[in-house]
Amino acid sequence: MPAIVLLGAQWGDEGKGKVTDLLGARVDYVVRYSGGNNAGHTVITPDGQKYKLHLMPSGALSPNATTVLGNGVVIDPKVLLEEMDGLAARGVDTSGLLISGDAHLIMPHHRALDRVVERYLGKARIGTTGRGIGPAYGDKVARTGIRAQDLLDPGILRQKLELVLREKNQVLTKVYNRKAIDVDAVVEEYLAYAGRLRGHIADTRAVLWDALDRGDTVLMEGAQATMLDLDHGTYPFVTSSNPVTAGACVGTGIPPARVSQVIGVIKAYTTRVGSGPFPTELFDEAGAHLLKVGDEYGTTTGRERRCGWFDAVVGRFAVRLNGITDLVVTKLDVLSGLPKVRICVAYEIGGERVETMPTTQTAFHHATPIYEELDGWWEDITKARTWSDVPANARRFLERVEELCGARISVAGVGPGRDENVIRHHLLPPAPPR
Ligand code: IMP
Repeated sequence: MPAIVLLGAQWGDEGKGKVTDLLGARVDYVVRYSGGNNAGHTVITPDGQKYKLHLMPSGALSPNATTVLGNGVVIDPKVLLEEMDGLAARGVDTSGLLISGDAHLIMPHHRALDRVVERYLGKARIGTTGRGIGPAYGDKVARTGIRAQDLLDPGILRQKLELVLREKNQVLTKVYNRKAIDVDAVVEEYLAYAGRLRGHIADTRAVLWDALDRGDTVLMEGAQATMLDLDHGTYPFVTSSNPVTAGACVGTGIPPARVSQVIGVIKAYTTRVGSGPFPTELFDEAGAHLLKVGDEYGTTTGRERRCGWFDAVVGRFAVRLNGITDLVVTKLDVLSGLPKVRICVAYEIGGERVETMPTTQTAFHHATPIYEELDGWWEDITKARTWSDVPANARRFLERVEELCGARISVAGVGPGRDENVIRHHLLPPAPPR
């Protein structure tokens, strides 16, 4: 059975949690493969309870799925334990969580540096979530990172921390005029986490290979999104990991040839948090409508999201880059009530029409959208469940999105509720009889 990748096709916050939920009981393993607690998934359970998750895979709320944090994730153990405790308090069992021993840990110096470097960058800041993500991946690449498995060996933990803090404390105190971080205090704090996390640390690669060999369904759940990818996104205004399909393989150890389906989640319009180019950004009434009706405030930081029209150049790029087989268009209902809806079909850069992602960031910064305008719809679409329930103008919008992006739309989200979806093609085949 398949390994499925589920990822965001824009700049994040596309509503991926809801899609995991839709796959529901058919999934045996849900694996996070990149990012850390910079992510935020909102999941609503069958009894109407709302959960906001940052680090735990959203499958945590599905009773049948084993949840896994893969080697590509960066883990802040304090946040993870708080999240597990919060879930336990609401009766959710997280005892089966598996953590890759190769996943890197977010340490206090990562959080301190993330915040102070952003301040130092001033107007050039990335607008990070301040959770220490970039510095943690930076140490991973520099080979000075501390991994989950180091929690199992107090001697090694201290040795690695002493080594890395020798340099980082110099930077914190002498460059940024901050307080030095005390090795003893951090070792003590992290050994306390070790006591609680020890039983969760595993060779998750092998667990997942065995699962696939048995015929189980493994869902690799993305965080952040395509345009925030370190290599393929709008660098430097990106996150420090690889949310794209290829990153799912690296971040879990599942080989590319085992991936049989890639589900791309894409909003019916575009949002972005933090800095960086965003050609279809709106500063008018339509933008205010998207912010208000779409309730576009960050799950992790509470920041107001920047809003704009659907960008099919981005959509097409994401489909080709990730090998998306199914698109899930979310928040279609947010466009209801607008007299006209627009789709960006190409950019104008220096007087020329460009239909693909510009080669340079400079060009992308200067891109102005070329729009196609379609008639809007006034009907309440939240009750629509089949394609024929969707008003003609909304259907035309979706068909145009599909044509421009080059992948079939299998599902359209028409409301925040877990059942508020139009299913055009089932994402997974119906379960075989047991
Ligand atoms: P970092 O991941 O905290 O380093 O932030 C880098 C950039 O990615 C910033 O622009 C953040 O706003 C953005 N970002 C990180 N995580 C998310 C997310 O889950 N949704 C949307 N944007 C995100």
